[in-house]
Amino acid sequence: MTDDITIRPVIDKDQRALVDLWLACELTRPWNDPLDDITRARASAEAEILVAAAADGALAGSVMVGHEGHRAWMYYLAVSPALQGRGLGKRLVRAAEVWAAACGMPKMHLLIRPENDRVRAFYESIGYGEQKRVMMARWLDGRPLGD
Ligand SMILES: CC(C)(COP(=O)(O)OP(=O)(O)OC[C@H]1O[C@@H](n2cnc3c(N)ncnc32)[C@H](O)[C@@H]1OP(=O)(O)O)[C@@H](O)C(=O)NCCC(=O)NCCS
Repeated sequence: MTDDITIRPVIDKDQRALVDLWLACELTRPWNDPLDDITRARASAEAEILVAAAADGALAGSVMVGHEGHRAWMYYLAVSPALQGRGLGKRLVRAAEVWAAACGMPKMHLLIRPENDRVRAFYESIGYGEQKRVMMARWLDGRPLGD
């Protein structure tokens, strides 16, 4: 059922469906406009949004991948709820890794919330491990950090 799904860079006409996918997967946050995120990633030579698309163009999944010259990072990994558990998430991660390796990046990083045991188990099952670090952050417009 996922055999006809291919992974390719996002195109203009995917954008609305991509936001809907992220909403369905609860990946959006009130302080991030997803369309702004899509626009910035697509404007950057150091970032890409890969989508999993069915033959009829329907979007089944996504991953945003980018690098800053040192490490690659993934965001917005999402598989349509109806298609989860069929290997698409793993395929998307592997495609992001291929993109990063082609950019010369030796390592992939990603962030998950500490309480998100389900996603942690998914990443562990495809070869990722936890590295103890403290993530520091600051909004550049000076607003309070929050959660
Ligand atoms: C996380 C997510 C992308 C996984 O995609 P998926 O297509 O369901 O996962 P896959 O079918 O590719 O699973 C790959 C492997 O992970 C394993 N796996 C998946 N979910 C798992 C879980 N909850 N616990 C343990 N293993 C899990 C699968 O068994 C499979 O292992 P296998 O290759 O040995 O068979 C998907 O569940 C999703 O979109 N979740 C909502 C959005 C989200 O939380 N994204 C991550 C943001 S950090």
